[in-house]
Parts: sequence; structure tokens; C-alpha cells
Amino acid sequence: MAALIGRDLLGLADLSSTELQELLQLATQLKTQQLKLHCNKVLGLLFSKASTRTRVSFTVAMYQLGGQVIDLNPNVTQVSRGEPIQDTARVLDRYLDILAIRTFAQQDLETFANYAKIPVINALTDLEHPCQILADLMTIQESFGTLAGLTLTYVGDGNNVANSLILGCALAGMNVRVATPSGYEPNGGIVAQAKAIVQDKTEVLLTEDPEVAAKGATVLYTDVWSSMGQEAEADNRLPIFQPYQISEQLLSLADPEAIVLHCLPAHRGEEITEEVIEGSQSRVWDQAENRLHAQKALLASILGAE
Ligand code: CP
Ligand code: NVA
Repeated sequence: MAALIGRDLLGLADLSSTELQELLQLATQLKTQQLKLHCNKVLGLLFSKASTRTRVSFTVAMYQLGGQVIDLNPNVTQVSRGEPIQDTARVLDRYLDILAIRTFAQQDLETFANYAKIPVINALTDLEHPCQILADLMTIQESFGTLAGLTLTYVGDGNNVANSLILGCALAGMNVRVATPSGYEPNGGIVAQAKAIVQDKTEVLLTEDPEVAAKGATVLYTDVWSSMGQEAEADNRLPIFQPYQISEQLLSLADPEAIVLHCLPAHRGEEITEEVIEGSQSRVWDQAENRLHAQKALLASILGAE
């Protein structure tokens, strides 16, 4: 079993390529019930943004492992009244075994992790969404039997999901192409980190041209054009992002066997058409299910479940 005992997962590159592979293998063993693991631990969920999939999949994963979950909604804790992160972290550390945080600034997550001795998991920040990418890679592996050498094309906003996908593809030996409008590119530091991981063995391509990016791709991926916290910009972004919609026409440029992924929630008619998300190449429901298995593997590995 992947040994990540006591570790944080603040960004996807906290994992080595081998650790990532082992986690995906464990997730598959848990999904196919070749393996059952147990740990009697308590997970806290401190989410400052909305969540359906991440909240429910973490909760069910922990229950299935025999552990328990406390939903630490900021509105019913002192967090919303301005208690410093440093203090909240040191107190929660004394009660909980592990903490998953969804927040805005990556720096706030890192401050939490610095002050809490228990493992801290990034359940989405403005910079990264590593748990999502564990499920995405698991879904791709299920579809193609392998990851190395495949080409994933992400089309849309260079956001948290795009950033973690770039790292995930780099660690998995996949080619990654990201097509965004100018000014909406993924994080430069993360792109540099991914290039350092791949060392020219695979492609890390940024472009403004969605058709160039989609050509021959084995996976087409998109996410919302305005993330949580960017609602005020949403109307202005619509015309800028329109050429980046995953439509049947864009999908026709990809490999005929290509699959389509979306982390959800989706805005049909914006970043993806109804026909594509409901079409035969879409794997979004398997992808959503795999959040449960991938996060169960992550929790089990960090908590040393047996
Ligand atoms: N994909 C994802 O993280 O969904 P939620 O925002 O519903 O958790
Ligand atoms: N990029 C999106 C992902 C939601 C799961 C957001 O941050 O809102």
C-alpha cells in the first residue's frame, strides 16, 4: 500500500510519480473491492466555498473506512468571526486526526498546514485542486489501461483544475496541452514545475488555439469559465471564452477514441455543449464516482489504514 503516513497534500507535486501510481492502484483495488481497509479516525472538513462532490465523497470515504467526519462549516465556527488561522489550526490539531480544507488563498492552506501537526489535504484552493486530479487520472487509466504517453488537452480557463492537471499529467508521463485565451493562462510557477518534472520527455504545451490543442488528443477536459470567487467577472468572460467551448466540432478533431472529462459542476452551453457532456465519449459520471475511491485511497494511505 502507498505509504503516505502523516503527510500533507497541499498540491499535486507533493506526490512523486511512484506515489501517484501507487495511490491510483490502491484506489482501483478499493473500487473493485479486492481490498478492504479500516481506520477509526476523525476527519474535519473546513470548507469556505460550496461543494457537492468533494464534501460528500470525503464523507462517504471516511465512513466506509470506519472513521468519522465533522463538517466545520466556517459560518458555524469562529473562523467566520476572524479567529486567526494560526489559532484555529493549533486547536483543531488537538481534536482531529486529519483535516481537509477548501479555501481561496493557497497561502492560507499552507499556514494551516504549518500550524497543525495533523495531515492537511487541499480540497480546492484558487491555485490547485489535487484531489480532483487523482480521480481524473484514475478515470483515464480505466478507459485506456495506461496513462504514460497519452495526450490530455485542457481547454478553457487556466484555473486551479488546469494547474493541478498539468502537474498530474507531468507526474503520470502524459503529454498535456492547455488552450486558454491570452491573459487566462495557468500559473507560471506550476508550468515551470511541470516542465522540470518532464524534462522534455513529454510535452507541456500552452497555446491560445483550441483546435491545435485538441488535434489527436486522447482526453479533452474543461472546467467552468469563472471559478468560485470570480462570479463578478462571469458576464465579461463569456465572449472571451466562447471559442474555447468543447463542442462536437472540437471533439471531432481529437482521437476518435478520445474521452471527455469535466470536474463538474458544468455549465451546459458555456464551456461544454449538452451533446458532448451527454454523449458517448463523456466519462464525467465515472469521473465523479472516482472521487470517492481516489480520496478513500488517499485517506487510507495518509492515516495508515489496515
Ligand atoms: N469537482 C468538485 O470539486 O466538485 P464540488 O465543488 O461539488 O466539490
Ligand atoms: N474551477 C472551479 C472548480 C470547481 C470544482 C472552481 O474553483 O470553482
